[in-house]
Amino acid sequence: MEKVKIGCVGTGGMANSHLSRLATLENAEIIALCDISEERVSSAVATYGGVAYTNAKKMINETDLDAVYFCLPPFAHSEIEKVAAENGLHIFVEKPVAIDLDHGLSVVEATDKSGVISGVGYQGRYQNAENALKEFLTDKTIGMIACHRWGGIAGGPEHWWRVMAKSGGMLHEQATHQVDMIRYLAGEITEVYKIDSMRINIDQENHTIPDAEVVTLQFESGAVGYITTTSALVRGGGSMRTDFILENHMVLQLGWGNFSIVPEGAVTVEVPDTPQISVDEAFINAIQANDQSIVKSSYADGLRSALVSICANQSAIEGKPIQIPTVP
Ligand SMILES: NC(=O)c1ccc[n+]([C@@H]2O[C@H](COP(=O)([O-])OP(=O)(O)OC[C@H]3O[C@@H](n4cnc5c(N)ncnc54)[C@H](O)[C@@H]3O)[C@@H](O)[C@H]2O)c1
Repeated sequence: MEKVKIGCVGTGGMANSHLSRLATLENAEIIALCDISEERVSSAVATYGGVAYTNAKKMINETDLDAVYFCLPPFAHSEIEKVAAENGLHIFVEKPVAIDLDHGLSVVEATDKSGVISGVGYQGRYQNAENALKEFLTDKTIGMIACHRWGGIAGGPEHWWRVMAKSGGMLHEQATHQVDMIRYLAGEITEVYKIDSMRINIDQENHTIPDAEVVTLQFESGAVGYITTTSALVRGGGSMRTDFILENHMVLQLGWGNFSIVPEGAVTVEVPDTPQISVDEAFINAIQANDQSIVKSSYADGLRSALVSICANQSAIEGKPIQIPTVP
């Protein structure tokens, strides 16, 4: 079968992770790369090959591509993702896929109409341990889910990460991985309510995201939960953990591929030792097989995870719980 011809918009940190994996796949070929920074795109082209562009539309119009990766900060997602899908290009969009609902829905509509394969970078879903846990939890009653993601600030004063209008804050930009994994394992979240504060990072230049967030979660199943985040640990350190409280025991998840049962031995969850594929292999294989089910997070599903934090941020502004809209 012919190689899948890839373009990539954004050639920063995360694009490099995808491109370095794609470069090793026999069924993928990097054709064109695009970044608004000429320096970044030139450097990426020097490493991975392909033709350099500084305008995504031009790249899509001028190049013969099968699929486009969008490895952009939350604020930089734009109509071009919809245009790519409308033109029959398979799209892979880095999380969080949108900073507002309307943009996300327009891309879902385009992928549905054109029938292209879509993927999102929630790579924890490809771990054997998480899938074993998912199977184990299918018929269990979860009472509560308690989660935190605590850390410092990414990048310096110029970085988009610390600007609320650009990143959406710690919950939207980083703890979205935890939100997505919680949805994957425990089902849909229907309502959120967030309170947040800014008391510690007040002297950090250009820092407009809250440095502490507390979010309550109502699940479709009836379970309840919460997530807390902080970016106050600027001298290093940090912690992330999700606890699923079940009858007589809890599942404690520290990161992808790493969970334990408390008390030890209360239940057994067998994790198969079968080979795992990466998020990129899954996307490329799905394109070749024309089978969306190989991808564990479609664009529409990724939007459902992004909506949890979009609605949480809105609830903090309005000072009341927000129902999460459904995504078709
Ligand atoms: N899945 C994961 O584990 C994971 C890990 C890290 C980052 N990410 C996500 O990846 C996304 C990108 O993060 P990053 O760390 O690569 O950011 P980055 O700042 O390193 O890179 C982003 C790049 O996009 C470019 N860019 C911005 N607007 C553009 C446009 N309109 N057209 C073309 N290029 C444009 C910038 O110049 C920059 O080079 C974020 O949403 C982040 O959350 C995901």
